[in-house]
Amino acid sequence: MNGMPHPYALLAEVTHQCPLHCVYCSNPLALLDRHDELATEDWLRVIRDAAGLGVVQVHFSGGEPLVRGDLEKLVAECRRLGMYTNLITSGLGLTESRARSLVSAGLNSAQLSIQGDAAESTNLVAASKRFDKKEEAARIIRDAGLPLNMNVVLHRMNLPRLDAIIDVCVSWGAERLELANTQYYGWALRNRDLLLPTKDQLEEAVGVYKRRKAELGKDMELLWILPDYYEPYPKPCMGGWAQTALTVAPDGTAYPCPVAAEITTMNFPSVRDHDLAWIWAKSDAFEAFRGTEWMADPCRSCPRKEMDFGGCRCQAFALTGDPARTDPVCMHSPDHHLVHDVLVRANQADGTAEAETVREELVYRRPHGSARG
Ligand code: SF4
Ligand code: FES
Repeated sequence: MNGMPHPYALLAEVTHQCPLHCVYCSNPLALLDRHDELATEDWLRVIRDAAGLGVVQVHFSGGEPLVRGDLEKLVAECRRLGMYTNLITSGLGLTESRARSLVSAGLNSAQLSIQGDAAESTNLVAASKRFDKKEEAARIIRDAGLPLNMNVVLHRMNLPRLDAIIDVCVSWGAERLELANTQYYGWALRNRDLLLPTKDQLEEAVGVYKRRKAELGKDMELLWILPDYYEPYPKPCMGGWAQTALTVAPDGTAYPCPVAAEITTMNFPSVRDHDLAWIWAKSDAFEAFRGTEWMADPCRSCPRKEMDFGGCRCQAFALTGDPARTDPVCMHSPDHHLVHDVLVRANQADGTAEAETVREELVYRRPHGSARG
């Protein structure tokens, strides 16, 4: 592995099963079934392989990882190998006894997602009425002695409620809150016109974020994940393709990023056929966009190419059908009109008064993608 970067993080997507149906879910549109999932022994091997590759953090995600009854075994193996573990959860299904058993297995932290500041917003974007379970999960996480990290995906319907969302997280005792503006892949791309905020909404929200960050100081860390459609340059997605992290999907397919399953023109390797070291260092898929050699102009001759790596490969594919093109978010991209036109449309309508009228149009994350029902 001379000159080869080492991944420091593994996203273990142990299942696609989930009690929620979020309209911006980052899981692929083609959700995997329980029967497709790796067995416990396979995951234990993946974890050992990851440790051998230099991974020091394992994030258990899904779907909802709590539906896997073997999570404690996987966490315990990580602890045995000295790796930090984080549970990314909707909170639904978290009981006091489950939290206790995960902590005794060695779980280090939990990240709890919310959809908004009240039951209505959870119901609108996740088709679930269980906001009360989220509050209970926050208490259970804190009582179990874990740091409470929270996450909310921001969009047209909840950005105007940002102050109230932050209040909820403060009152639940969060140590950190990630304000993640929607990234438009998969389910979020399908619902893009209903989720994309107006420029005014965003500017107002940035004001709220800055004010609350200053007020909260060290009491709660606030993080703002940029809404890249409104940026002149793309995000340095994943710190570059196959540079710092990898994802293993429920069926064992390995990806350089959590969204890459959407790139249907590429073949991704499986941990059922290869060990992670081979996948990371030798597989065509992981090599495809590593470094800058693969780039064409305008990226090839751009001074920013080592800063943003040409942007996001998944976004390039989602918008142009070619993962090797410059991310259309970039103002130098020949495909930039694809983003620009969408923004023009989003700003033609009033962003604040639509929550109820869009309800029937949203496509909820379900095995066969359906409108509310
Ligand atoms: Fe980044 Fe390519 Fe745009 Fe330059 S041209 S800013 S490298 S995406
Ligand atoms: Fe896959 Fe950006 S989300 S490279």
